[in-house]
This record gives sequence, structure tokens and C-alpha cells, in this order.
Amino acid sequence: MYAGYDTTASVASNAVWQLAKHPEVWDKVKEEQAGVVAEYGPVFTEVAVEAMVYTEAVVKEAMRVMPPLAANFKIATKTFGLAGRRIPKGWMVVTATGSTAQYFNDRWPMDADFRPERFLTGKAPDACQDMVFGLGAHTCIGSRLSLVENTVVLATLARGYVFSLVEDGSRVVSDPMPRPENGLPVCVTRRGDPRNQ
Ligand code: HEM
Repeated sequence: MYAGYDTTASVASNAVWQLAKHPEVWDKVKEEQAGVVAEYGPVFTEVAVEAMVYTEAVVKEAMRVMPPLAANFKIATKTFGLAGRRIPKGWMVVTATGSTAQYFNDRWPMDADFRPERFLTGKAPDACQDMVFGLGAHTCIGSRLSLVENTVVLATLARGYVFSLVEDGSRVVSDPMPRPENGLPVCVTRRGDPRNQ
């Protein structure tokens, strides 16, 4: 439940938070959804979800700026050297894989900005530049499911709802997933039948 639910819920909260702060991004999500509905109809079919490239990029950018799992824990099964350090067998190694996409300025220009377009440049980032789902034999098995879930959440909101933050300025707390301390109260108003917009 922790791996499959809390991670995805943390991203959903942060995406809504970021969208409230970046109305120009939200407008682009709504525009994309209008286009997807016009082309594929209101049902979330596989092709329709695949066409939501901008909406999915918003989800990825929300994960980049606030990774649900900043780090993860491994046990060294053999002694090895890394960057001049000796890591003995049996030590716990904390790999800050989730934060990789935040701290490499040369790899992610303007990394402080919320810019979903960075995922749409045509050239996919190298796997080592974005390890929010881990990397290697134990890469997250639910990564695609999570991306689809949050893409559909944002698409549903964009098609049929208006929302605004009840209060802003919350700080982020981690317990251990990062989340706005105030729980991000949001006022949501329905615009019509989300299936038909
Ligand atoms: C935003 C959502 C998620 C994030 C950021 C995330 C992140 C991660 C990370 C960092 C790992 C460890 C990878 C490694 O050791 O290299 C992992 C493993 C795993 N995740 Fe996720 N995860 C997410 C969603 C999910 C979902 C939705 C499921 C299941 C429905 C899931 C199931 C698992 C499982 C079973 C593993 C262990 C895989 C293994 O050891 O072979 N995760 N995840």
C-alpha cells in the first residue's frame, strides 16, 4: 500500500499544487484535453491516454520538483569503491536516486522552474538523469500505472472542474512522503459532466 498508493497520492497533491501556482500550465492541460476529447471522444481509452503527452509531462515535472521517494536503501552485497571511497560489504547504502533530476543543473536547464516542456524536447532524458522510479533490476514495477493514474486524475479535473487553493504558503513536510503540511485544502467546483467536455 505504501509503494502503490502513498507515492502516487503524493504526486497528485503536488501536481494540483503546482497547477494552482502556474495557471499558464493548467491552461495548456485544459487545451490538450479539449483536443483529446475532440479526437477520441470522452472515454479514457488507451490511445486517448497515450495522446495526453502534455498532461503526462505535468505529472513527471511534479515528480521532478518533489520526488515522492528522494532516496532508497540498499545493502552492499560486496565491497566496492566509488569516487575514491571504499564501501564495505554489509553497509547500508542510501542512494538518492529520486533527487537526481533536481540537482544536475547542466542536465536539466532552469531546474528551479516548473516546466513540463522539458519532458517534451523530443530527446528522452538519459535513464541516469531521472531515476525517480529507481534504476536497475528493481526499478519500480508500478511506474507506468502510477503515471497513467495521475494523468487521468489531471485530465478528469481539467475536463470538468474548476479548482482553487483555499490557502497557500504551506510548507512541505515528509512523513516520509512529501506533502503540503496544511493538507492542501482545495475548493473544487463542477463545470458540467466531465465525460462530455
Ligand atoms: C509516483 C509513484 C511511485 C514512485 C516514485 C515509486 C518509486 C519506486 C522506487 C524508487 C523503487 C525502488 C527502485 C530501486 O530499488 O531501484 C520502487 C520499487 C517498487 N515499486 Fe514503486 N513507485 C511508485 C509507484 C508504485 C506503484 C503504483 C506500485 C504498484 C502498484 C509500485 C510498486 C513497486 C514495487 C513492487 C517495487 C519493488 C520492485 C522490486 O524490488 O523489484 N510502485 N518504486
